[in-house]
Amino acid sequence: MILPTHIGFIMDGNGRWAKKRGLPRKLGHREGAKAFKKCADYCRELGIQHATFYAFSTENQKRPSDEVEALLRLFDEYLDDIREMKSKNVRLRFIGDLSFFSDKTREKMLEAENATAKNTGFTCCLALNYGGRDEILHAVRRLVTEGCNLSALDESAFGDFLYTKGLPDVDLIVRTGGEQRLSNFLIWQAAYAEYYYTDTFFPDFGKKELDKALAEFAERNRRFGGL
Ligand code: IPE
Ligand code: IPE
Ligand code: MG
Repeated sequence: MILPTHIGFIMDGNGRWAKKRGLPRKLGHREGAKAFKKCADYCRELGIQHATFYAFSTENQKRPSDEVEALLRLFDEYLDDIREMKSKNVRLRFIGDLSFFSDKTREKMLEAENATAKNTGFTCCLALNYGGRDEILHAVRRLVTEGCNLSALDESAFGDFLYTKGLPDVDLIVRTGGEQRLSNFLIWQAAYAEYYYTDTFFPDFGKKELDKALAEFAERNRRFGGL
């Protein structure tokens, strides 16, 4: 079966998962984080090379501060049990405007990236305070301040200025929670991505659902504009 080289997940529906059970939204995020770990592990087991998980968008800053704080605590906890990842030959990446995070959290992210930089098995990329438009603007600002050679600027050279430098374009985007939109996720990199959505809320998203998405992906006829 043809697997995507790079898969993206829009991990949506944590809040509604909790609401359905009469629980606070932050418990939905906690369950979502557990589902994320299992999902990343399963991608690795299947032999997918790269996966990017959308965990917090630049727009999510608009949420009430107690929810944002609960999410930040979850990210910190996750960073603390990163050791497990190192032993599984996983390379960790963090993409987004990381200036939003505390110095301590940013240090932990950098440490985790450096400690796993030589791992070759599977790239687990977390999109934190990530926005596709923010990423493109950030790239343009750098191009201007660093004085780029316009005649050499092609799509591939531009890609090197994005947070995802070194990662291939995303082949498949899976969104849980029923919405059929990109919500500012990898808008440059998803130019030719296949899109799959499911009504399942992310905390309930497991192996069976991912198998289904991958089976559908394998059946798609990708033409990239050709015949
Ligand atoms: C996705 O779940 C996680 C984040 C956006 C941080 P939501 O929190 O958006 O859950 P719903 O969409 O309200 O159910
Ligand atoms: C998208 O979910 C962002 C993440 C999953 C991190 P949202 O819940 O923020 O998206 P919208 O607001 O429904 O578009
Ligand atoms: Mg949502």
